[in-house]
Amino acid sequence: VTITELAGPAHVPAELLRDFDHISDQDFLQDPFGNLEAHRGDRVFYSVNWGGYWVLTRAADIREAYQSPDRFSAYPGGLPAREGAPPMIPEEMDPPEHTKYRQAMSSMFSPRRVATLTDEVRALAVQLVDDVAPRGRIDFVEDFAVPLPTRVFMRQLGLPLEDGPRFVEWNNVLLHALGEEKARANREIGEFLTDLVRQRAEDPREDWISELLSQEVDGKPLEQHVVVGMTFLLFLAGLETVTAALTFATNFLARNPEYREQLVADPGLIPGAVEELLRFQSFANTARTVTHDLEFAGVQMAKGDKVWLSNSLASRDPAEVEDSGTVDFGRKANRHFAFGAGAHRCVGSHLARLEMKIALEEWHRRIPEYRRADADRLRVWGGNNMAIQHLAIEWDRA
Ligand code: HEM
Repeated sequence: VTITELAGPAHVPAELLRDFDHISDQDFLQDPFGNLEAHRGDRVFYSVNWGGYWVLTRAADIREAYQSPDRFSAYPGGLPAREGAPPMIPEEMDPPEHTKYRQAMSSMFSPRRVATLTDEVRALAVQLVDDVAPRGRIDFVEDFAVPLPTRVFMRQLGLPLEDGPRFVEWNNVLLHALGEEKARANREIGEFLTDLVRQRAEDPREDWISELLSQEVDGKPLEQHVVVGMTFLLFLAGLETVTAALTFATNFLARNPEYREQLVADPGLIPGAVEELLRFQSFANTARTVTHDLEFAGVQMAKGDKVWLSNSLASRDPAEVEDSGTVDFGRKANRHFAFGAGAHRCVGSHLARLEMKIALEEWHRRIPEYRRADADRLRVWGGNNMAIQHLAIEWDRA
């Protein structure tokens, strides 16, 4: 497609129109982070796909957009837009509303509270590694990267691990299916969580839902339907993200043995490796909606326009990151965008890091040498949360 054939809204100059698609273009998704580099020449451009959206390419502009909810609203936040759907709490709220609901959630995810989960997360990781180690070949996604965060999550909801497969299925459908299938999963999980929240309201326990039910906003306890919505968001935000992070990290390490060997030789490098791999492959991106006609990054944007905030691009911006295209596990002051920026910056980041650190520690302790088991093209789910669909890896059994 040549640029002159593309059509966009009247306020978008023709020279900024691009046939860019981060949601379904499999060529792009082969190497989304590398392919995005080709767009750095533009400060901003406009994709004609999925209803049209602006793409900011500079970390400074992306940060400013994150920090300006009066210009870039979190609602509606989806891309393509979920117009008409009720806002997800607190993800699709703007301050001052956002601040109150975010606060109700944040103490559960503080560094101190997350640290208390260390032994439990480690036990789950050790169990999974012990299960797969004798096999010598697995699909890393299905056999490790999905079950680990799912089990951590079930534990925090006080659910039996046997419910895991049902959660995995729902999660896959919600994130990657469309239409009727998705509507059905939405209904099912809504009903499941509504029931669970009712149970916890009657019989509180030591778990996330009971804790949310004990929180107040504006001096009133959170209503049950609000807690259902918040738990739903935790489910959407806290499972597949960790799966994606573990899989992108392992794919990198399987292809780059010199980096894998560093971690095996010195496990003390793992926390730095977690940060650096999140920076190098910031797979979770977000979208905002323009609140009124305005000028930004040198272009005229109209009320209602969608803006894609690409953490993938921001984390590798050479204007902010030295040797941004090089992976360095010892990188100092690694201020990446993998968890976003501004008021909505990931509330679960400490838990995500804990899961990743422990997974990499326990995996490499037991399975220090492994490699990709097929040379096929990777298939990657597109959209705001990019994720590798399958990753066959193998190792020599002891
Ligand atoms: C490596 C794993 C993860 C990544 C890369 C990630 C990334 C992100 C990003 C980029 C945002 C900002 C969204 C926006 O600005 O619109 C976000 C928000 C959020 N994340 Fe995470 N996340 C991860 C893991 C988790 C986990 C484990 C949880 C909880 C169990 C979680 C819960 C949330 C919630 C509730 C929000 C919304 C916060 C708000 O609106 O104030 N995330 N995450």
